[in-house]
Amino acid sequence: MSTEAPIEWTDRLLLGYAEMDAEHRDFVVCVRALQEAEPAQVADRLAAFADHARRHFGAENAWMMDTEFPARDCHIDEHAAVLKSVEEVQALVALGNTAIVRSLADELARWFPGHADYLDSALAAWMSKRRWNAKPVVLRRNILE
Ligand SMILES: [Fe+2]
Ligand SMILES: [Fe+2]
Repeated sequence: MSTEAPIEWTDRLLLGYAEMDAEHRDFVVCVRALQEAEPAQVADRLAAFADHARRHFGAENAWMMDTEFPARDCHIDEHAAVLKSVEEVQALVALGNTAIVRSLADELARWFPGHADYLDSALAAWMSKRRWNAKPVVLRRNILE
C-alpha cells in the first residue's frame, strides 16, 4: 500500500519539551509504517499505532491533569476522538477491511501538524516553564526547507 502524502519528520515539529518530542518522532514513525503497510501487515501495524497513541496521549493527558493545565479539556477530547477512530478502524480490520487503514493513516498525517502546533505546543511551553521556569528555546535544522 502506498500513499500520496507520506508523513515525514521535520524539525518544524520540534516543540522543545524532550519527552513530548520523543513521542512525536515515534508518532511519525508509526503513522508512516501504517501508510506503507501491505494488507498482511495492517493489523500488526495498527496495533502498534494504537499502543503508541495510548502511551503518547496518556502521557500528555497526565501532564495536563497533574499540573492543572488550564486549556486541557479540548486537548484531552481531541486525543479521545483519535483513539475512538483507531478502535473503530481496528474493528473493521478484524472484519477483513484492511483498505480502510490507508484512509486513517492519511487522516492522521493531515491531523498531526495542526494538533502539534496549536495544542501540544502550548502544553510543551507550559511544561518547560514549570521545569525550567522559562519558555523553551527550540533549535531547528532545515528551517528553510
Ligand atoms: Fe502529542
Ligand atoms: Fe496532544
